[in-house]
Amino acid sequence: MRIDIVSIFPDVFEPVLASSMLGIAQQKGAVEFRVHDLRQWTDDKHRTTDDYPFGGGHGMVMKPEPLFRAVRAVTEADPRVPFVVLTCPQGRRLDQRLVEELAAKERLLILCGRYEGVDERVREIVDLEVSIGDYVLTGGELPAMVIVDAVTRLQPGVLASPSSAEEESFSWGLLEYPQYTRPASFEGREVPAVLLSGDHKKIAQWRRLEAIRRTALRRPDLLESADLTEDERAFAARVIAERDSERKEPGSDG
Ligand code: ADE
Repeated sequence: MRIDIVSIFPDVFEPVLASSMLGIAQQKGAVEFRVHDLRQWTDDKHRTTDDYPFGGGHGMVMKPEPLFRAVRAVTEADPRVPFVVLTCPQGRRLDQRLVEELAAKERLLILCGRYEGVDERVREIVDLEVSIGDYVLTGGELPAMVIVDAVTRLQPGVLASPSSAEEESFSWGLLEYPQYTRPASFEGREVPAVLLSGDHKKIAQWRRLEAIRRTALRRPDLLESADLTEDERAFAARVIAERDSERKEPGSDG
């Protein structure tokens, strides 16, 4: 997969893209990153990428011309047609399902939004606007890094074992089960015995139930669309009922 990023702060990407898993993914050829400075597509002395909003108001708006030129030039640099993403707080909220959709594209072009927004006409050349959450950042560089990281780790050959992606948080539609490493006993805190039993079937069952328990307690909203058996749904309901009855017990703080 090839990922192009267009930003007015191209330098901030270098250390992130070169580090750890992203750097290794690139060395392995699983992904190719190209970062472009938007200012190369400006045509004035000051290399201006933003301007005042028509109609007045506070803040600056990203000009259309450099972004249109950028998308045209970057698209032409490779025969694969990119799926164009604009980072902005009004976009579709990123979740693991969207990450999987993006990871399946052969090429992504991410435009990092800035300032108070981009000229509305730029939306014509964008396939999808993506938000990384309901909060406002100063720009789209961090969101672009989040997208690139999440998408890259799903590329074939990037994770040590492909089942790591399948078993973890969200790909079952559940939060991840509790994990432990050595020592088995730490200052009186014991690792659950089942994990030391060597019984792989029992371990898998325990993990599944603990993932359901954790999801029920922390993110009950995820249970609705999670793929659970009837017994598992009943277990989730019991976990929630037990927690609620503990809360209501007289003398408890709440
Ligand atoms: N730009 C500013 N805030 C953002 C957010 N939450 N997601 C994507 N792009 C943004």
